[in-house]
Amino acid sequence: MKEKLYIFDTTLRDGEQSPGASMNTAEKVRIATQLEKLGVDVIEAGFPASSEGDFEAVSEVSKKVNNAEIAALCRASVNDIDRAWKAVCHAANPRLHVFLATSDIHMTHKLQMSREEVLSTAVDAIKYAASFTENVEFSAEDGSRSDPDFLCKIFETVIDAGARVVNLPDTVGYAIPREFSELIAYVMKNTPNIDRAILSVHCHNDLGLATANTLAAIHAGARQAEVTINGIGERAGNTSLEELVMTLHTRPSYVPVTTGIETKRIHPTSRLVSMITGIMVQPNKAIVGANAFAHEAGIHQDGVLKNPMTYEIMKPETVGLTSNRMVMGKHSGKHALRKHLKNMGYDLSEDEIKSIFEKFKILSDKKKVVHDEDIEALVNEDILRTSDIYSLEYLHISSGTTVFPTTSVKISINGKVIKGTGTGNGPIDATYHTIAELTQTRSELLRFSINALTDGTDAQGEVTVRLKEDGLIALGRGTDPDIITASAYAYVNGLNRLEYLKQNPPTTEEGL
Ligand code: KIV
Ligand code: ZN
Repeated sequence: MKEKLYIFDTTLRDGEQSPGASMNTAEKVRIATQLEKLGVDVIEAGFPASSEGDFEAVSEVSKKVNNAEIAALCRASVNDIDRAWKAVCHAANPRLHVFLATSDIHMTHKLQMSREEVLSTAVDAIKYAASFTENVEFSAEDGSRSDPDFLCKIFETVIDAGARVVNLPDTVGYAIPREFSELIAYVMKNTPNIDRAILSVHCHNDLGLATANTLAAIHAGARQAEVTINGIGERAGNTSLEELVMTLHTRPSYVPVTTGIETKRIHPTSRLVSMITGIMVQPNKAIVGANAFAHEAGIHQDGVLKNPMTYEIMKPETVGLTSNRMVMGKHSGKHALRKHLKNMGYDLSEDEIKSIFEKFKILSDKKKVVHDEDIEALVNEDILRTSDIYSLEYLHISSGTTVFPTTSVKISINGKVIKGTGTGNGPIDATYHTIAELTQTRSELLRFSINALTDGTDAQGEVTVRLKEDGLIALGRGTDPDIITASAYAYVNGLNRLEYLKQNPPTTEEGL
């Protein structure tokens, strides 16, 4: 029988460390619910000592998720562990995840601690964490650059102190697959009590090798993989769940392990994370990119038509891409929409379906054919956007070759509606200035990108903005058949996210 590989998803914690990817509590609960359906074993919901927002998110996710384990990250200190436990204790299956750096460079320069001090701090922290729960994980931060013998020593000691999982992160994405698998094999061989724990890996993608390193580590004996949806995470991101899971699925004899992942839920989960975080998936991204199953070359298209396996190593349906895309339009009823949403992987309540149906009717009056991408955008706009302070009530623009761009905007701020007009050197400039004035915000627009959701001139525009205010960065996203309206939605969404960050500022001084 194949051995089990535990999938530890850290989209809500390391994933959220992607610049601008902050999520509010309701959004995190939504993603956690989807991750549970996807079949991950552990959901790392946050780092409670890092901010009030993280504390609240970990508590809420712990209350709402029943099957997956919920992990809370903490440094090796009594305060952090107390805070993490207070947030995660509501979970049916809570885990405390304690981390401490073990590489010489981190111990000397960051921690300013000797090896002995690190060893005893780790042991004290694990013993303290184990007084709350048996489910304790220890991470040796910067493990891949640590002395292998010191790693084995610290793992042996923390396992004796009560750690059930020991994690070896490639924190800075420095490892190379062969070298990393040798390190894992070394740790497996030279940590005398390793059979009493699960060896885990957590790889970053700075050299584009995160998935390859994780796979090499599993080959060498690791049995927990820490991953994120779409590979989002600190700097270049983390190992992507979809790449790892589909590699194991497509090449089952390479590493004979099984996961509990329902692969058909991969695509909807990827879209959900992308819509909530505002981080677009690059078109050529493996498994979930828009081009992952698109064949452009004539020879390839011909081959695929004759037999898909000529050029396709995976079926799009396996990852949840519907091949028989049902065309929805103004004559489609609520029942058809409900069924279609279900096929797309959304389990929504009747109230949510009712609300989406109303928006769907308005959209199908404007667009002849409503595509899956349009429906996803409706779900995003209507259901996933939560607890906004600002919302756009009305927008009128006048612009063109012979008029000076002028805009008139009505915006609601915590339920109170105000309006104003403004001008700019283009309709977007005019709209953004007016909104900034009405909301009395002074964010800087770092990036603006626009993309057509589907083919055709009647396609909806999808706008993503990156805003910065007082050192805080947030992404905003908006869709509408009118690209200026989509731009306004994206800007307002970004301002809401900045407000959330202002109200929940990070309280830790160090990054991870
Ligand atoms: O990259 C890292 O080392 C981490 C640890 C906290 C596991 O994210
Ligand atoms: Zn990390």
